[in-house]
Amino acid sequence: MCGIIAFTGSLDVIPILLEGLRRLEYRGYDSAGIATVDEAGIHVRRRSGRIAALTSALDDEPLAGNCGISHTRWATHGPATERNAHPHVDEAGDFAVVHNGVIENYLQLRQQLEDDGIIFRSDTDTEVLPHLIARFWSGDLVAAVTRATEVVRGTYGLAVVSRHAPGTIVGARLGSPLVIGIGPHGHSIASDAGALANHAEKVVYLADRQVCRIDANGWSVSTRGAAAVDCATHDLRQLVDVGDADLGGFPHHMLKEIYEQPEALTNAMRGRLDDADATARFGGLNLDPRQLRGVERIIMTACGTSYHAGLVGEYLFEELARIPVEVEYASELRYRNPPVDRNTITLAITQSGETADTLAALRESKRMGHTTLAICNAVGSSIAREADGGVYLHAGTEVGVASTKAFTSQVCVLAMLAIYFGRTRHLSVSQGERLIAELRALPDAVHAALRCHEVVKQVAQRYSHVRNVLYLGRQFLYPVALEGALKLKEISYIHAEGYPAAEMKHGPIALVDEETPSVFLVPRGQVFDKVMSNMQEIKARRGPVIAIASPDDREVAKVADDVIPIPDVPEWLQPIVAAIPLQLLAYEISLLRGCDVDKPRNLAKSVTVE
Ligand code: M6R
Repeated sequence: MCGIIAFTGSLDVIPILLEGLRRLEYRGYDSAGIATVDEAGIHVRRRSGRIAALTSALDDEPLAGNCGISHTRWATHGPATERNAHPHVDEAGDFAVVHNGVIENYLQLRQQLEDDGIIFRSDTDTEVLPHLIARFWSGDLVAAVTRATEVVRGTYGLAVVSRHAPGTIVGARLGSPLVIGIGPHGHSIASDAGALANHAEKVVYLADRQVCRIDANGWSVSTRGAAAVDCATHDLRQLVDVGDADLGGFPHHMLKEIYEQPEALTNAMRGRLDDADATARFGGLNLDPRQLRGVERIIMTACGTSYHAGLVGEYLFEELARIPVEVEYASELRYRNPPVDRNTITLAITQSGETADTLAALRESKRMGHTTLAICNAVGSSIAREADGGVYLHAGTEVGVASTKAFTSQVCVLAMLAIYFGRTRHLSVSQGERLIAELRALPDAVHAALRCHEVVKQVAQRYSHVRNVLYLGRQFLYPVALEGALKLKEISYIHAEGYPAAEMKHGPIALVDEETPSVFLVPRGQVFDKVMSNMQEIKARRGPVIAIASPDDREVAKVADDVIPIPDVPEWLQPIVAAIPLQLLAYEISLLRGCDVDKPRNLAKSVTVE
């Protein structure tokens, strides 16, 4: 994973790099570092831990200059120590490199370099790069970087500086995203466009195997070892919402994003609900009517929370569009060989649009001849650009590592897509009208669901000490049980499992005891009685029960130890409303346990390595 940002121009480079690193911290926060370059040489500051640690290192030992590279790390090879923090330099201190990606043949390359007498100073895969660049140096930095990228295997987004060419930065990309920023006071290279927001006006997306060179006066791109390439520039302001990343008075991004959900859902639906035709409408699907009606199977692919949204999507598509759906973890799909059918489409679901496994699964599906669509939040991200068509969430930047508003917006978009496909098949006008009206009422229902926060706080007090929690639901709410468990695990470090409620008796019920609460998703609906029976089975084994239930449900209150009420909505929309108390519960328990809500240990917001 990791994030890189580099700048060269007429401005003081340090504030630009630090601001860029803060914007990239979602890609990892194990360590951070900066290298500047001038006639005197390369100057490096690195620290393990957050960017704040690097900032105080710079307070103690300041750096200055107009040209530098920087990095925020999510450790893959070697622990999160200062010795492994980027930038990495060659033995003579002539070249410094920051890297996002994984060099898969680094052990072999390291052995060769060590046999030649090179002494390594880190445990990282990255360190082979500065040594290789030094070896291939013959007066041209682009040529040396190009040669080095030809011998490494794996993925990389790189920025390189050299004491032989102060003021010049060379970047290279294969598999890990890289953009060039063009601004009035200089040029930059970064892992994503958001990192450039404070100084660039336009961006250029690099393609795989491209190498770029920037200095204060210009930029150029070439394809490895070949002639210069003409690249399109994009207006940065249309890609990035600069103001989105602040806390707006909330103590944490996660809480802010939970409370933004009514607005995010409104934005996801804006301009997409068509009353005249009783359907949903999308601008960027790029499917002609014949293709649309011809779709016979959908493979949804995603990771983590987005995968759970896909599981809800499976229920929605089967119910509303009558189209068979398979949902597959992207990390599995990318290495599977499912039979290809001309009428199958692959739908990638991703908040960041940069998740390496989802991107690889999308590419593999494309290669096999499938039409690919994406549901994406980050505008201009790799997946958004590479899919044949897609739908943006318009949820605004999601900063908290625990995904909240992206999940509910993804489910909302999947619901609209299911209506859209359904209306080309069997859904009648009156059914379409009813579904559209129910969708319109959704933001208010989510707003009302947020009123459970006070009750959730009390419940959190009672259970914050536990070691295991079960999350149980059926049908549309089974994927929400998985999502509730993921939220709790990732931000409170409590072991949690989500299960279909009826599946408990096939094994997991053995885990139930007085110390293991079960969170039941049991609002009124078709399977209400069945879930109530499952709840009784847990109570009979002395397991504490927290129920997410319809308002004033006396039947539930008689069995459950704690009840968190949510407003009644039609069953197909319950996943969105029921997710709210689970997000709040994970948040409150995380706070009580003193965890870092927005940046939980071992995680990063965007997982850009395999
Ligand atoms: O950006 P993506 O939606 O592709 O990310 C997928 C997962 O990495 C992500 O949902 C992750 O599971 C979240 N931390 C969950 O809260």
